[in-house]
Order: sequence, then structure tokens, then C-alpha cells
Amino acid sequence: SRTVRRNADGVVTVGGLDVAALAEEFGTPAYFLDEDDFRVRCRAWKDAFGPDADVFYAGKAFLSRAIVRWLHEEGLNLDVCSGGELATALAAGMPAERIALHGNNKSTEEITRAVEAGVGRIVLDSFQEMVRVAHIAERLGKRQRVQIRVTVGVEAHTHEFIATAHEDQKFGIALAGGQAAEAVRRALKLDGLELIGIHSHIGSQIFDMAGFEVSARRVVQLLTEVRDEHGIELPEIDLGGGLGIAYTSDDDPREPHEIAKALSEIVRKECAAAGLGVPRLSVEPGRAIVGPTAFTLYEVGTVKELEGLRTYVSVDGGMSDNIRTALYDAEYSVALVSRTSDAEPMLSRVVGKHCESGDIVVRDAFLPADVAPGDLLAVPATGAYCRSMASNYNHALRPPVVAVKDGEARVIVRRETEEDLLRLDVG
Ligand code: LLP
Repeated sequence: SRTVRRNADGVVTVGGLDVAALAEEFGTPAYFLDEDDFRVRCRAWKDAFGPDADVFYAGKAFLSRAIVRWLHEEGLNLDVCSGGELATALAAGMPAERIALHGNNKSTEEITRAVEAGVGRIVLDSFQEMVRVAHIAERLGKRQRVQIRVTVGVEAHTHEFIATAHEDQKFGIALAGGQAAEAVRRALKLDGLELIGIHSHIGSQIFDMAGFEVSARRVVQLLTEVRDEHGIELPEIDLGGGLGIAYTSDDDPREPHEIAKALSEIVRKECAAAGLGVPRLSVEPGRAIVGPTAFTLYEVGTVKELEGLRTYVSVDGGMSDNIRTALYDAEYSVALVSRTSDAEPMLSRVVGKHCESGDIVVRDAFLPADVAPGDLLAVPATGAYCRSMASNYNHALRPPVVAVKDGEARVIVRRETEEDLLRLDVG
């Protein structure tokens, strides 16, 4: 995050506030999110894609009312994938026409609510859902704008992609075997639907552009087939999210302008070759916008040195505020931020306080050998998929999200209390 610095005593400051003061005021663990950095990233995506494209922030990465307001102010749209995310978006004043609803098993209630609210698009994930959405829209006397989510046969991994004939996963409708073409055929026959385009999302935390490029090419190929068969040009394509960020210094992420240039060029070139008008493009970055904007602040509770192995440094959070290490073997870095230390670096494992040994925050890290109870540790790049995937495991109280801007800090999601936990218990 760009406003994080160290002062002369080695204490990290964020937006001019030192972490010790932040810990004192807001407690630990807590997520601190740099509002300016978030807004700068929103603008970078908007500017990179320009006026002929839409940027839908993927709310699953992290969503709150404040986030929705910032997105609105920065001119971004919002991708939601559940009734809860939709409710948050609407409650915070995001205009419905700027919301897209996703999901592979949207409930009747979720679809009804979205259609009633007038969301800009619903991304259809199956044949059954297509019929369901059409019926709901007809019953409400509406025509719902929809895209069809296709699987393009590209399997995107972190540093590579493998083109596969079949994708063995639950999302979307396969281009292979004419499935997607059949979906278009059926959608065009349903009165409740206005088919506006095709959607493809190939995966997440991707560094290699090649997968996105193959996806863009195959989606345009489908538009061409649709034009040839039905004589219509679908006006929009959405190429999803998935751009990777740097979790450690080994990662070398692409910038929004690089992906924008690559995608727009391919779409333009392929459309020109097919004699198609260039469709309006949209993308759905989540992690790349919010991920780098936040860090988690923890306090060290115990330090256990295991001779000849490593040192276990236990912090006051863990897998309940960051499940990504346990779930995906994700890599993070960590720094001692409440003081400087000249002590030798020591191989450490930063672990949480939960009742299982897989409760690891940072698997391998070098921390100064004098790290001790009461020290504050910061884990950067925890803005995406940490608070949003947080749990109450062991009845942990989910940490607050504190926004820092212009030397001021304010809570945008408060810390849970024991009352919050008990409120759901009946009897
Ligand atoms: N659009 C669609 C349809 C998606 O399914 C996703 C993410 C995105 C956009 C945003 O992808 P992003 O730009 O954030 O990579 N919990 C996992 C990530 C799951 C992503 C699911 N879909 C993690 O912590 O790495």
C-alpha cells in the first residue's frame, strides 16, 4: 500500500498514523485499508479500459457499504454473487442498472429480488437457470438483460495456463460440443430475456496473459457463430476477473493497462477479421483492486522455539481472519512493525490461535530473533478474500476493517462482539 512508511524508530506509519497507536485505538487483529489506494486502483482500471468498457468490481473479494459508495463515486459497476451482496449493494445506493448478478445456483428469491430491483444484467450459468430467470421476469412483466457464462476450455493456473478440451468444474456452459451455441438459441426464444452478450471468467490470481487472450478469442468466435446463425450481433462481452497481485516479492503482477491493451487489441482484431462490430467490453477485477490496499495487524502472544526446526510465533488471529494459507497454500509476507530490531533473522512460522495445526498465517518467514510477546506484526495484501472469507471458528470475533485516509482512521466494518455471536443462538 502506497501510504505505508517507517518512521525513524522503525515504527510503521500508515497514512501518517503509527501502527502502535492504531492497535491501541482499534485493537488487534484488525484489517487496515488505505482508502486512497483503493480509489487510485479503481481509477487505474477505469482509465485503462476507457469509456467504451465497464469495470465491475467483484464484491466477493471484499464488500461493505463504504466500499459500495467509493465504487459508485469512482464510476465503477459492481458484480454480486449472492442475495447478501446484492442487499449490501442496494442498501449503499449502488444504482441497480450498474449491478451484475452472478452465481451457479442462484435461488428463486435471489433472482426475483434482482429482477425486481432492475439489475443491469444477470449472468446465466445453466440451462435450468435460464428458464427460471425468464419465467420470473415474465411474471414480473419485465425483460431481463442477461449474459451467458461460457467455459472456454482454458484452465488458468497461477503462472501458466493449460488449454483443455473439457472443463471439469461447476461453472458456466461449455463452448465445446455446441453447448453454448445451444444456450444462445434457447435464450433468444425466451420472451423474458434480452440476451446482451457472452461472459467468460477463467480463474483467479493469474499472471500469464495468454489465458485471457485465448478466452477473448473464443468468445468472439462464438459471437461470430451467433451472427452467422441468427443474423444478430450480441453487443457485449465480459471477460471476468482474475488478474493476480503480489503477495510476496516473488510475484510480478501485470498492471490494468497491460491487460486492457491486450484484451482490447485481441477483441478488435478478431472482430475486424470476422466483420463484426466491436462489442462493449467489461471486466470484473476483485483481488487486483482491493487486495493490495489492506494489511492485517496482529499482536504476538507467544514465541516457541523448536530446536533445529523453526520458531512458532503465535498471533492473536489466524485462520478465522485469513483462511487462504490453510485453504490454498497461499503465500504471504510478514513484518515486525512496532519497532526496529538488529537481531539476526530467524526462520519463523506465524501461526494463529485456533485449535488445529493447519492454522498457519505465514508458512515461512524470517523475523528478528528477538521477536517477543507484545510485538506487532503486519501481513500485507490481505484486502481480498480475507475479511470476506472470515469465520467465527472457535467463536472468534471477526476483526474490524479500518479505513485510513488523510491521517485519519475510521471503522468501516466494526469488530464483532460476543453479543453478536450469542444473538444467533435460540434458547
Ligand atoms: N468474476 C467472476 C465470475 C468470479 O468468479 C470471480 C472470482 C471474479 C470475477 C473476481 O476474481 P478476482 O479478480 O478477484 O481474481 N477465494 C479465492 C478466490 C476465488 C475467486 C472466485 N471468483 C482466493 O482467496 O484466492
